Amino acid sequence: MNISIKDTSAPEYIKRVRGLIADRSLYCHVITFGCQQNEADSERIRGIARDMGYVISDSYDNADLIIVNTCAIREHAEKKALSLLGNFKAIKKKNPDLIVGVCGCMANEPHVAEKIKTDFHYVSFTLEPNMLHLIPSLVYQSMEEKRRSFVYSKDSGDVVEGLPTVRSQGHRAWVSIMYGCNNFCSYCIVPYVRGRERSRESARILEECRILISDGVKEITLLGQNVNSYKSDTDFAGLLESIANIDGDFLIRFMTSHPKDVSDRLIEVMGKYTDKIAPYFHLPLQSGSNEILKRMHRTYTREKFLETVEKLRRAVPGIALSTDVIIGFPGEREEDFLDTMDILNRVRFDMVYSFNFSPRVGTPAAKMPDVIDDEVKSSRMAELLKVQDVISYEKNQPLLDTVQRVLVDSASEKKGVVTLNARTNTNKLVHLVGDKSLVGKFINVRIIKANGFDLIAEPIK
Ligand code: SAH
Ligand code: SF4
Ligand code: F3S
Repeated sequence: MNISIKDTSAPEYIKRVRGLIADRSLYCHVITFGCQQNEADSERIRGIARDMGYVISDSYDNADLIIVNTCAIREHAEKKALSLLGNFKAIKKKNPDLIVGVCGCMANEPHVAEKIKTDFHYVSFTLEPNMLHLIPSLVYQSMEEKRRSFVYSKDSGDVVEGLPTVRSQGHRAWVSIMYGCNNFCSYCIVPYVRGRERSRESARILEECRILISDGVKEITLLGQNVNSYKSDTDFAGLLESIANIDGDFLIRFMTSHPKDVSDRLIEVMGKYTDKIAPYFHLPLQSGSNEILKRMHRTYTREKFLETVEKLRRAVPGIALSTDVIIGFPGEREEDFLDTMDILNRVRFDMVYSFNFSPRVGTPAAKMPDVIDDEVKSSRMAELLKVQDVISYEKNQPLLDTVQRVLVDSASEKKGVVTLNARTNTNKLVHLVGDKSLVGKFINVRIIKANGFDLIAEPIK
């Protein structure tokens, strides 16, 4: 059933769709699930839609083109996307010309594409995440030929440059630097749906960063499923150093790293450019048990992980650390879980994101024996959250009464009071009462309350 569409000439189909839309006002709404890579892809999808002549809308009720950008990482994310799709049946009834497209990681799971094809007749196309440039031709086929298409592939995909982008925020920008993953952690669907690692040329990345900074962007987040295994004419450390050397007042962040690829050189560069590179590192542990790490195919040991943390803390004083943990991997014994808790207690991460293991079709872990009961998972999760809540709270207490530089992200108004949402360089969420005009600016604030999850501040006059 896989329809292979060879044509990659997006500009041609963009023009054709523009011609079909002519001077009508048609609306496009994009819904995003999943990680920052998907957020960045959705900005490109909006860019393509805008170029095709659609008005970007923030609701799907009046939309003529709805694109759902899906995530396959856990069952919960998939269920949410499928139940959302159910809502569009009624809209399609009212507006038979409605086009619904499903992009993202779920669209590259053959069994999902098949299910959508048979159970969701009002979905016009599914499209795997590495081929966004095909959207114009799929929309055209749907409009002109009333043809449904289901595009998925086992190929790694190319690096497609130059897609248009509608950025959601003026002061922050995502910059994808590499795509895909070669690690095949035994629980993870990403390598299957996103393909193998491909890195963009460093010259193109630098050029994009220069333009963003001269446009006034204050925070650039470099993205990749395995961002620190970036490799082209330079490695990740080299790329980071070149970006840090661009003139301007901006901060660089990056997501997501693999502990095995945290090189000494990367740590050195982070220590050297603390003014530009955020003193924050998301270092996914997954498990603290060497036995489980081996079966997860994570290729590092708990000892090696602790050593990396030590090196980072030595080179970048005050660095904040966060991590991901999977609870209830097949065969996780109580002592394995206690090994994970031991690492959390030793490292004292600022933030821990914990997930119950979710078997993914086609991954080795989905077939492993000794499946852990949901009750055991829940009680381990509760234990982890209880301990980590205290650690996160304690980690934030020294910030009380200090002055922090923050970047103001957004403002929300309630009963005439404007609350600003900001982040410290160490990626901690800060709320303060202040003026809307500060959105997008770096400001100094005094922390007046430190909770586990966020900080309350006041502006410094
Ligand atoms: N490239 C990133 C991970 C992306 S997925 C990395 O290597 O860390 C984000 C997180 O989802 C992972 O770190 C992992 O903790 C979690 N995750 C991935 N697959 C999962 C699964 N099958 N069940 C539960 N959690 C999972
Ligand atoms: Fe998934 Fe592992 Fe690749 Fe991260 S490194 S995306 S967890 S396979
Ligand atoms: Fe989800 Fe795909 Fe990202 S599976 S986490 S959207 S790479």
